[in-house]
Amino acid sequence: MNKLADKKHFNRYLVTSALPYANGPLHIGQIAGAYITADIYTRYLKSKGEDVLFVCGSDEHGAAITLRAKKDKTTPKKIVDKYHSLIKSTFEDFGINFDIYHRTSSELHHKTAADFFTVLNDKGEFEQRTVQQYYDKENDQFLADRYIIGTCPNCAYENAYGDQCESCGSYLSPKELIDPVSTLSGNPPELKETTHWFLPMGKYEGWLKEWIIDGHKADWKTNVYGQCKSWIEGGLNPRAMTRDLSWGVKVPLEEAEGKVLYVWLDAPIGYISATKQWAIDNDKNWEDYWKKEDTKLVHFIGKDNIVFHSIIFPIILKAHGDYILPDNVPANEFLNIEGRKVSTSRNWAVWLHEYLEDFPEKKDELRYVLCSIAPETKDSEFTWKDYQARCNNELVAILGNFVNRTLVLTHKYYDGIVPEIANQQYNSVTDSIANVPNKVGESIENYRFREALGHAIDLARMGNQFLAETEPWKLIKTDEDAVRAILNTALQICANLTIVLEPFLPFTSQKLRNMLNLDKLGWENGTKVDNLKAGHQINKPALLFEKVEDEAIEEQKVKLHS
Ligand code: 2FM
Ligand code: ZN
Repeated sequence: MNKLADKKHFNRYLVTSALPYANGPLHIGQIAGAYITADIYTRYLKSKGEDVLFVCGSDEHGAAITLRAKKDKTTPKKIVDKYHSLIKSTFEDFGINFDIYHRTSSELHHKTAADFFTVLNDKGEFEQRTVQQYYDKENDQFLADRYIIGTCPNCAYENAYGDQCESCGSYLSPKELIDPVSTLSGNPPELKETTHWFLPMGKYEGWLKEWIIDGHKADWKTNVYGQCKSWIEGGLNPRAMTRDLSWGVKVPLEEAEGKVLYVWLDAPIGYISATKQWAIDNDKNWEDYWKKEDTKLVHFIGKDNIVFHSIIFPIILKAHGDYILPDNVPANEFLNIEGRKVSTSRNWAVWLHEYLEDFPEKKDELRYVLCSIAPETKDSEFTWKDYQARCNNELVAILGNFVNRTLVLTHKYYDGIVPEIANQQYNSVTDSIANVPNKVGESIENYRFREALGHAIDLARMGNQFLAETEPWKLIKTDEDAVRAILNTALQICANLTIVLEPFLPFTSQKLRNMLNLDKLGWENGTKVDNLKAGHQINKPALLFEKVEDEAIEEQKVKLHS
């Protein structure tokens, strides 16, 4: 990947996270995929003083919602209202700091998506086609997307949806499914004629080869690049952008009665409508973020949305003509749990709202673990034992321990007042401290969040080692000057930890700032080693992290199996 120095300069950033369907609560696989990383990225850029807008919202349309409503014997509206608020507050609870969390059921979104369709339609970008489509006679309904399941022709997974196989990720059309059945009646479907608006994607093949295959080989992640390359080289067929459904954004044409926009022309337009709403609320210009070439657009997603955000949405933006394209689409792969794929229907998931009930004080612990094991290049694995080990051996034993020792000694020897350094004695340590933000920043800017977190924690590791080597608790009897210098230096490390850890562990950073009696500092201060002035009074220390006990872990394992 490119080094920082080779990169184009941008004056503002627009960062998006995939709009989750408002059809259920959030689980850890989702936030490990598209949200924690995006939050780290935007917190870091904001700390650097960049102009950053971070948008997301609930995807409240599509068969995912209507089927859930049917299952719960309620209305789609009630489903989206319920889960929109649950999802929104869960994100807030975990410190996922969107500038706006919008919703696609809003009037502004409906208008924005419908207008987008109209522009493309007026430009002649669609082909209207009459096709034979599966139909459920009993329920008098065409069977699109999740209304039909069958065996995937590519990987033989038996519960593939009509539009996508969740097992291998390939996009399907219902007719490709082997042994299809209606999810409404359970019966094999019939065929019936219907008309849809297709986007002939083939005409963008040449451009995509140039833009992605030739243009993004060096800077897109290999999992993303590889999937795009094989898709483009496999040839791009026309895809229907409309569906015969009653719930969604109505196709704005008289002859399209009873049809709505498919997720491809609905959910990602949600990023645009969210930006518009934010601009209205904050008296800003939304077009700066979507139409100016000096804006860097970055989409954070999970691997099931790679082709959608790297190929289909860019084609839609390009076809419109007025919009910038994503600079990068740093998708993560999937997070498995205790050796198995997440399955929300079989309840093989760790639900975030339940985690919060069980561990209300351990939000950063989960952020930490999920970033440490983020499925950046391949699927990865969450286990409760590993969660416990990382919390206890890294957060408690390294970070917590270092901070506690430093603050306790400062109180013990100097009544909590930052001591003065008589003469600078620890240059090699201070040089390493000052170098940490650059290392962390470079990893973040290259979307290597695990590595970035490692560099940030190394600062605490460095601190621990420094105290272990200099042993101020022994030196206090013989060399008070040295102890003053040691504790001053250790306190500077604590101060700088509040800066470099903030993107990853925002709650801990705040807690540490409170203990240090320190205001929030910008990223550039992390390269200094005098953020705490001699004579500054710090507050009493409290433990940053509590140990995770065996019983708590056993309880979680039982919960997962129940
Ligand atoms: O796949 C999904 O979860 C859909 N809700 C779409 C997410 S991506 C989008 F927002 F563009
Ligand atoms: Zn498959």
